[in-house]
Amino acid sequence: MIYLDHAATSWPKAPPVFEAMKEACCQVGGNPGRGGHEMGLEAGRRILAARQQVAELLGVGATRIVFTKNTTEALNLALFGILKPGDRVVTSSVEHNSVLRPLAALEKRGVEVEVLPAPGGRLDLDALAQALKKETRLVVLSHASNVTGDIIPLAEVAELVRSSGALFLADIAQSLGYLPVKLGELPVDLAAFPGHKGLLGPLGTGGLYIRSGIVLEPLIYGGTGSYSDSVEQPEILPDRYESGTPNLPGILGLGAAAEFVRNHGSEIAEKSLALAQEFRQRLSELEKVKIYGPEKLAVPLISVNFGQEASEEVARVLSEFFQIAVRGGLHCAPLAHRTIGTETQGTVRFSFGYGNTQEDVEAAYKAAVQICLQL
Ligand code: ALA
Repeated sequence: MIYLDHAATSWPKAPPVFEAMKEACCQVGGNPGRGGHEMGLEAGRRILAARQQVAELLGVGATRIVFTKNTTEALNLALFGILKPGDRVVTSSVEHNSVLRPLAALEKRGVEVEVLPAPGGRLDLDALAQALKKETRLVVLSHASNVTGDIIPLAEVAELVRSSGALFLADIAQSLGYLPVKLGELPVDLAAFPGHKGLLGPLGTGGLYIRSGIVLEPLIYGGTGSYSDSVEQPEILPDRYESGTPNLPGILGLGAAAEFVRNHGSEIAEKSLALAQEFRQRLSELEKVKIYGPEKLAVPLISVNFGQEASEEVARVLSEFFQIAVRGGLHCAPLAHRTIGTETQGTVRFSFGYGNTQEDVEAAYKAAVQICLQL
């Protein structure tokens, strides 16, 4: 199979990930932070090391990183942790359901939600500036769209939001690993990230960066291994937001992945982007292919359609007859598709990453030509 679905999850994972996960299962064993025996203490030390590895990649302090099972959980923690009835939140029409569904639930509880236009998939910065004139508690935006690959100017947007007095939550699911995101150098208050996409870590891992000084209501309450004499949730981080036994193999795998990306990420990102850009160029020569998103790619994903053919059907044909893995349909982002006019057809999304080669571009292009011939 030629794997071109890295925007859903990267594959293969970074080589050191396997060793770290195996060690967690075969050698570490204890429950981190629970029990004073050596195996539990060692598990705790390993989790701390993984937290440091992730924090270093993001340029922030380790205690500001909270592990979650994915970006969705991190976004839920941030949104439900900040917003109260009567608050106002601003987002855009290209967001993923991991933002829009929590906001729809919060709207029912009395939170005012404003969805900004993003014509053609690009956020309208003037509309954002206008929206910030009204008192706003939070702005939540994705750094890179999972449908079109359009990006927002992160630093500029974060500055704008900061100067308005609102908090800024960045969804960096599609940019981390492909674009440099040094959170410590940006006026970003919260950032939700996956472990399993551009970081090349295990599925079921992710996290939330919480700037110092920000206190959230926890999403889940329970045992943390600390302050066990109290029924109140601890205030210290990361304990406050990490109740329950953590995913030790996943987190150690994520730490190893973050280290790998810190050392090799720029080469991987450069290569993936060059392959995606070349593929885009070649597709643009095919009359029956419509391409969405920017001409000059910022992240290695391209959304297209083949004539009027349903995108899921094209994705099925690519898988079944050409052994090429892509994602068709709405990509859990129906509003983004409505924004670019593809709510019925969806799009066929090709996303490149670690391990892809020139031959993959060639094979995907030839498959696209064959599909066009059948239309
Ligand atoms: N959000 C992921 C995607 O875009 C799963 O495919």
